[in-house]
Amino acid sequence: MHDPTRTPGPKIIAIANQKGGVGKTTTTINLGAALVSEGMRVLIVDLDPQGNASTGLGIEPEDRTLTTYDLLLDDVPLTDVIKATETDDLNIIPATVDLSSADIELMSNEKRSFLLHDSLRQPKMDEHEYDFILIDCPPSLNLLTVNAMVAAHSVLVPLQSEFFALEGLSQLMLTIREVRQTANKALRIEGVVLTMYDARNNLSQQVEQDARDNLGDLVFQAKIPRNVRVSEAPSYAMPVLDYDPASKGAKAYRDLALEVIEKNLAQAA
Ligand SMILES: Nc1ncnc2c1ncn2[C@@H]1O[C@H](COP(=O)(O)OP(=O)(O)OP(=O)(O)O)[C@@H](O)[C@H]1O
Ligand SMILES: [Mg+2]
Repeated sequence: MHDPTRTPGPKIIAIANQKGGVGKTTTTINLGAALVSEGMRVLIVDLDPQGNASTGLGIEPEDRTLTTYDLLLDDVPLTDVIKATETDDLNIIPATVDLSSADIELMSNEKRSFLLHDSLRQPKMDEHEYDFILIDCPPSLNLLTVNAMVAAHSVLVPLQSEFFALEGLSQLMLTIREVRQTANKALRIEGVVLTMYDARNNLSQQVEQDARDNLGDLVFQAKIPRNVRVSEAPSYAMPVLDYDPASKGAKAYRDLALEVIEKNLAQAA
């Protein structure tokens, strides 16, 4: 659906929430795979030193010789850091624990907030013909996450359906506002997606109600259920869409992908 009316290049979405374990990586991998199943070409950028997205897509540590770190700090060209995955049209720039020192090394660099922006928003990117780039952020509002927000067109926020879920959001929104005021005026919020939703649990319903009351249309209709197939898939190095396409988790991520595509077509119109 590469949209010629948008500024050239793919739509870049940062998947962010400073809270740990809320489903950022799971959403990055599976939204990526679901977009591919709708005919899109997708690049995932692993921006977390934990490297979970890389592991979940089967990139072995010994195959991570060139990583996001090299792209950001050593000016290694895009073509050299991008790796194919088992899923056609789903590529990844992997990460290793080396990236944990990047946060500090970036401090002394005067372009510190713009390194990922400059790496991704460059004419060479067009040659790869991606429709979407999804950035898996670390569980922090550090300089890596700021780099993602400066590089991105929008932020997609996974919200775990549990107590305190909404509390961290104000800090995240504050950071988005700061980035808008300083480095990326056009940054939008793609939406908030409820993750690990359990329809039988009153708490999940309460979190959903609060989120919809406070955030309105920003909350995606699609909800990602707590689903054991989703949590098993990474140990088989696959998205849940390939591991168990008929599972509730796979269906939910396909629904989310359709909403994302629809939103982007509407924005482009
Ligand atoms: N819908 C789901 N159903 C069941 N388990 C899930 C679901 N989504 C995520 N999980 C599990 O929850 C854990 C945390 O998910 P994930 O790694 O995606 O979160 P994260 O926000 O990326 O974490 P971190 O902040 O450490 O990067 C993982 O073990 C994952 O398999
Ligand atoms: Mg993660």
